[in-house]
Amino acid sequence: MKSTEKIWINGEFVKWEDAKVHVLSHALNYGTGVFEGIRVYPNSNGKAIFRLKDHMRRFFDGLRVMDFHLPYTLEEMCEAVRETVRVNEDVDYLKPCAFLAGEAVGLNPVGVPISVSITAVNMGSYLGKEIQENGAKLIISSWKRPWNMSSPAGAKINGLYVTSCLAKMEAVKLGADEALMLNAQGNVAECSGENIFIIKRGKLYTPKTTDSILEGITRNSIIKLARDMGYEALESEVSRLEVYTADEVFMTGTAAEITPVTMIDHRPIGDGRPGSLTRQLQEAFHNVVSGKDRRYADWLEYV
Ligand SMILES: Cc1ncc(COP(=O)(O)O)c(C=O)c1O
Repeated sequence: MKSTEKIWINGEFVKWEDAKVHVLSHALNYGTGVFEGIRVYPNSNGKAIFRLKDHMRRFFDGLRVMDFHLPYTLEEMCEAVRETVRVNEDVDYLKPCAFLAGEAVGLNPVGVPISVSITAVNMGSYLGKEIQENGAKLIISSWKRPWNMSSPAGAKINGLYVTSCLAKMEAVKLGADEALMLNAQGNVAECSGENIFIIKRGKLYTPKTTDSILEGITRNSIIKLARDMGYEALESEVSRLEVYTADEVFMTGTAAEITPVTMIDHRPIGDGRPGSLTRQLQEAFHNVVSGKDRRYADWLEYV
């Protein structure tokens, strides 16, 4: 990850090194924030922001869940994101974040001042080019995905990501690339920062939004692309057995894009190599984000 020049915070740009918060800020101590992750794809037509409005709608849904109120409309926040892309040179990933920046001892978030920032970075390939090409090794984590009974699992709330960090750490220490988490019912939920798809006999399956997952925008894009390519793509419960015995498995996410999965808990998926339908979908997605496939032009906003 490479830093950029300027961070947007509460309506102004500050230098990267000057974007600071107090050690007693409520968000730092209790995780009271809502964030987003958005990709920017530089291509021959300019810098393309992928599905900006959809990301910002999810951001505002998260704010509603937390009962946070910003002095900006959704459209003003979209414009601030565009402006952040304009003022920074080498950007491929953006992270808007609304957080309780006020100093507070004690849990009560009511009345604690809120701040909102937009950070731009150059992330490159999140899991690494080699893994994106040749596939990732997963473990099923001993950490379960936060579920709907105990948390707003479908919102990107900062504090909820501790579980993802624990799962990711467990995976890496066990020699894997990524962690797959189960939900309260013991079914497959998602990875630490990616949704999961399995392919069995030519059909795609991905866990439902009620299975304690984040409703991924890449997940939604892949469902649409697969259906437009003539494949059946179903949102349904997925069991642990079904991932082990799938013909193909892949992950989707803004950061990880489309990443094949070739091994889960030391069991090869299919023949242990990225599957052909996964490859087709990777290519289709690439054609969309690089602006080559004009049918999905409204998913890209150029700045
Ligand atoms: C837990 C989790 N699941 C799934 C995703 C994928 O969602 P999206 O495709 O919108 O990036 C993310 C990334 O934001 C995530 O953090």
